[in-house]
Amino acid sequence: MNRRDFLHSSTAASALAAFSIKSSGAEKSGRRYRTAIVGCGWWGGNILGEAMASGQCEVVGLCDVDERQLDATAAKVAGVSSDTPRRYRDYRELLAKEKPEIVIVATPDHWHALPTIAAVNAGAHVYVEKPIAHTIGEGQAMLRAARNANRVVQVGTHRRTSAHTVSAREFIRSGKVGTIGMMRCFVNSGGIGPEQPLPTQPIPAGLDWDAWCGPAPVRPFNGTANNRGIHPRGFRQYLDYANGTLGDWGIHWFDQLLWITEEKWPRRVFSTGGRPVKGPPVLTPNEQTTDAPDHQLVTFEFEKFSVAWESRAFAGNPVDKGENVGCYFYGTKGVFRLGWRGGWTFHPVNEKEPVLHEDAKLHKPDDQNIRELWADFLAAIRTGRRPISDIEEGHRATNCSLLGMISLKLGRSVEWDGAKETIVGDLEANKLLRRAYRKGWEYPV
Ligand SMILES: NC(=O)c1ccc[n+]([C@@H]2O[C@H](COP(=O)([O-])OP(=O)(O)OC[C@H]3O[C@@H](n4cnc5c(N)ncnc54)[C@H](O)[C@@H]3O)[C@@H](O)[C@H]2O)c1
Repeated sequence: MNRRDFLHSSTAASALAAFSIKSSGAEKSGRRYRTAIVGCGWWGGNILGEAMASGQCEVVGLCDVDERQLDATAAKVAGVSSDTPRRYRDYRELLAKEKPEIVIVATPDHWHALPTIAAVNAGAHVYVEKPIAHTIGEGQAMLRAARNANRVVQVGTHRRTSAHTVSAREFIRSGKVGTIGMMRCFVNSGGIGPEQPLPTQPIPAGLDWDAWCGPAPVRPFNGTANNRGIHPRGFRQYLDYANGTLGDWGIHWFDQLLWITEEKWPRRVFSTGGRPVKGPPVLTPNEQTTDAPDHQLVTFEFEKFSVAWESRAFAGNPVDKGENVGCYFYGTKGVFRLGWRGGWTFHPVNEKEPVLHEDAKLHKPDDQNIRELWADFLAAIRTGRRPISDIEEGHRATNCSLLGMISLKLGRSVEWDGAKETIVGDLEANKLLRRAYRKGWEYPV
């Protein structure tokens, strides 16, 4: 696709927005880091666009197991720079041949741990997407590898650099919401009914499906249609590769509330949920549905407060007319609603006091703050300090989602020893901190 064709495609045009920001003179230091990306999909494109726009990154390698994704990304890079990255299907070969100083890991969740660990061991700093891992044991191995290699590992929880989240944190920490006893985070969407299975499709030319599944079980291939097939982007609702809405979205809200409250972990977690609307999961060689719950409730008991999570893929949000995602902080002085596109709003208990509001300041495409998070990543590399979304904090936030999934699978609550990172007195639950990898791949330790 040439540059003109690319601009004429509407989805591509929005993706190009991230690729066309003028370099901001950030190369003051004259430094351009050899930068590579593993996972050239939707979000990887957004990150790579900001990396290039920083003026401090030379793109030397692109890695994907799907040639179509490589083609599209190579075309975008060529359209806005003179960088000539080489293309790879295997991240191990990329690391060995290109010796990148920075690696972006934007693969599906089941493929975050191994490339991140290999990259830091090869001497690179890493920007890895959320949730950091598919199982808690993978996250532990990633954290250990980052520390042993003394590399900066930034997690893509860009809300920490959203102006309204930063001011929300200041507002809440200054005591203006009073003593907070409870929080409620939620992601509600859709109005779907029973889920119809999708037929298995031939694997497209150029896609190495076995490598895409990697350490996870191999499911029959189905391409994304109406946001339901596995690849690209649809993996989120297939538990072999991700952890449903709790894994995908929960981490964002848990990360923000841990950051704001400076709590480290919950001490007890209980979850319930299921598929009463979508129906039982189907998996045969000829057809399949997703298998993540269509709704999920999780309660977290922290030292000083309780947190409730609610996700729902039906009934939308017609009663509470606000955003369909967010987190309420309930304090003795009022209710603070932290949102995404909607910014934040504080409703005081004393109705004579004014309702306060701050708008969000987000970037296109997709309303995010990757630019600020990338700048923080580069500053951390330059100065040797920890980045704002350090891997340890991404690990703790991810653990909240993954403990919820463990409780859901077991049908009972789990008591979490956050210092030792074990589940207290429950052998069966502790087994779920890890999972078996498919032959050919070794679970990281
Ligand atoms: N921080 C955020 O707000 C945010 C937003 C969206 C997505 N994400 C995260 O980004 C990640 C990617 O999501 P997406 O929506 O871009 O998915 P996607 O399907 O569009 O892209 C993933 C890409 O990884 C490739 N891939 C799979 N296995 C690979 C391997 N072994 N080596 C190299 N490439 C491989 C796939 O072929 C695909 O091109 C997910 O973890 C998701 O949670 C984060």
